[in-house]
Amino acid sequence: MAKPDFQQRSCVPWQTFTSEKRGHGRNMLTVGRLVCHSERYKLCLRAFVATTETNLYLSYGSKVPDTTLCESGAVRVLGLGCGAGEFDSIMFKKLLQRHSSVYNRVVEGSGEMIEKYKALVQEDRSFSAVECDWRQQTMEEYFHGQTKEDTKFHLVHAAHVLYHVDDLHDTLRNMWEQLTDDGYMLVIMETDTNDVWKLRETFFEEFGQGDRLKTSYRTSSDVKQWLDTRGISYNISEYEINIKVAECFKEGSEAGMMILDFLTQTPHVASDPEMRTKALEFIRHNSFEVEGTVLLKQIGEVIFASKKSAKM
Ligand SMILES: C[S@@+](CC[C@H](N)C(=O)[O-])C[C@H]1O[C@@H](n2cnc3c(N)ncnc32)[C@H](O)[C@@H]1O
Repeated sequence: MAKPDFQQRSCVPWQTFTSEKRGHGRNMLTVGRLVCHSERYKLCLRAFVATTETNLYLSYGSKVPDTTLCESGAVRVLGLGCGAGEFDSIMFKKLLQRHSSVYNRVVEGSGEMIEKYKALVQEDRSFSAVECDWRQQTMEEYFHGQTKEDTKFHLVHAAHVLYHVDDLHDTLRNMWEQLTDDGYMLVIMETDTNDVWKLRETFFEEFGQGDRLKTSYRTSSDVKQWLDTRGISYNISEYEINIKVAECFKEGSEAGMMILDFLTQTPHVASDPEMRTKALEFIRHNSFEVEGTVLLKQIGEVIFASKKSAKM
């Protein structure tokens, strides 16, 4: 039987903090912390993926650089927060054009996601030369158990998951330490230049509390800053997706409420009239219409850093 899903250490129980700010009994610490409500998070993620105009995973999976990761033998890949494996499948298709086999260690906190990933492996030929090593753990648990002598990887990747780790900088350091001397780190995150981010930024200014980096409100710039400080060079490649947002405006729409939660990374936004109004106003002003479909743009970045290039 699958282990129950994880709970981030940084997640504070819902009842622990309430704020009198603005005279509401509002829990300010839930702003940007949708991931702390794991069941809601999964539903909202699913609703969000369904709103994207094109194949979400292909939009960033196709940007993974074509690189030879090692000269001979199986390439070793460490995947962090791999979800149901859709992105990994696209990536392995590319890797297997240059490498004959892959050892793939999957670290994923959700048992449900791991089961879905296993099902994908059974049916998807991209995994035919991939040996999977499943670890149902949070990254924090995984890194805590690693020693310096443990296996090193030619590629360590984290696609759209570093929003949710307890400590972004610690995680990046741990990822870096898991690389072989000529290994690569791949991180995919949204930029701080797109409309979804601006919504989150506005939302945090208005309703958030504490250190932004303790919430899921993180961007690719936070990662680039970490790399820049250490003199690590990297390549970036941008991708864009359009999100269908009309459903958010439909009173009482469950799907609309979940999309709103995902966009703001805040659980049950619609139950707080002021938050709902603020989010909808922002979306109304920043969305655009194409052939009758109301869309909001999100831009993400694929960051590819080489350990060989590092001065550290
Ligand atoms: C948005 S999904 C991204 C999935 C996949 N990487 C992709 O790009 O399609 C984030 C995934 O990370 C997992 N996750 C979140 N925090 C985690 C943590 N601290 N350790 C391990 N997995 C985590 C979630 O369960 C979820 O499957």
